[in-house]
Amino acid sequence: MQSDVERLLETATRDIAEAQGSSRALEQLKVNYLGRKGQLSRLFKQMGQASEVERPIWGKLLNEAKEQLEKAFSIALEESKKEAQKQKPSFDITVPGRRSLKGRLHPITQVVVEISRIFNWLGFEVVEGPEVELDYYNFEALNIPKDHPARDMQDTFYVSDDVVLRTHTSPIQVRVMEARRPPIRVIAPGRTYRCDSDVTHTPMFHQVEGLMVGEDISFGDLKGILTIFVHQMFGEDVGLRFRPSFFPFTEPSAEVDIQCVMCKGQGCRVCSQTGWLEILGSGMVDPEVFKKVGYDPEIFTGFAFGMGIERIAMLKYGIDDLRLFFENDLRFLKQF
Ligand code: FA5
Ligand code: MG
Repeated sequence: MQSDVERLLETATRDIAEAQGSSRALEQLKVNYLGRKGQLSRLFKQMGQASEVERPIWGKLLNEAKEQLEKAFSIALEESKKEAQKQKPSFDITVPGRRSLKGRLHPITQVVVEISRIFNWLGFEVVEGPEVELDYYNFEALNIPKDHPARDMQDTFYVSDDVVLRTHTSPIQVRVMEARRPPIRVIAPGRTYRCDSDVTHTPMFHQVEGLMVGEDISFGDLKGILTIFVHQMFGEDVGLRFRPSFFPFTEPSAEVDIQCVMCKGQGCRVCSQTGWLEILGSGMVDPEVFKKVGYDPEIFTGFAFGMGIERIAMLKYGIDDLRLFFENDLRFLKQF
């Protein structure tokens, strides 16, 4: 009997060592050795065959073996549990994931994209020009003489005597004409700067310039292109009108008003009760400007226009304060 017990302890120790790390295997082994039908129980049963004298000795031996095995199993199980704990990932995979924020285009950018799409479709190419501009391109070449009110310090941010932050996108007209020969059909979106600030004016705003030059471009072309644009942008049923105006670099000049989209022309606060809203300035390129870029005004004619993008975005989305576009409040921006 003694040797049976010793053999059992020996194999058990070896088995436990082999199963170390696997709680499952250890539990199975524990049943094999210590369970009701296990190997130790079998030895206990054999005690019945022992003599009166041997029985207590065997009992003691078996009980000690049982105790030893129980201890060995409990240590091994504890160890393997700790090991498993260590290998478990330190994060909880059942916690719901953090959703990443989806970026989107700023409403002003969306309007620029939309305007560009319409003019691309009409055969216009998109070009750009510098925001820090020479006085020459911003004013001089556009037939704005030194004493013109548009040059007043109140309107223009001067970088130095002959360098300004461009006050409109019109200098791009000059740059394009200097660099190319007609036919020309371009639009030029970009930032512009004026020393101005209230509900409908901000110191930085956006314009889109348009320029079309060729051998027989007429005011009818200007009207046609801008009418198609307005109908594409705001819908076929929106009324528009061309109102005589003045710009030093166009002659004749016209401003375009559209029927107020807020009140459908009834008259409201946004359109100052007139039912109309100005969206752009335009006109036939002044011969003086052609002379500055070396085009013969006897051969070439053309038209130009410049629209305020914030103004168009306000009308398109029904927004009554221009400053909302630049505060970058996500609650506002997320609506687009
Ligand atoms: C011009 O800037 C001319 N260059 C437009 C032009 C181009 C005429 C080509 C003829 C040929 P005006 O100063 O009106 O024109 O500005 C045009 C538009 O810019 C205005 O209708 C308005 O919508 C917008 N705008 C002007 N100032 C501001 C401002 N401070 N904040 C926001 N939008 C402005
Ligand atoms: Mg104007």
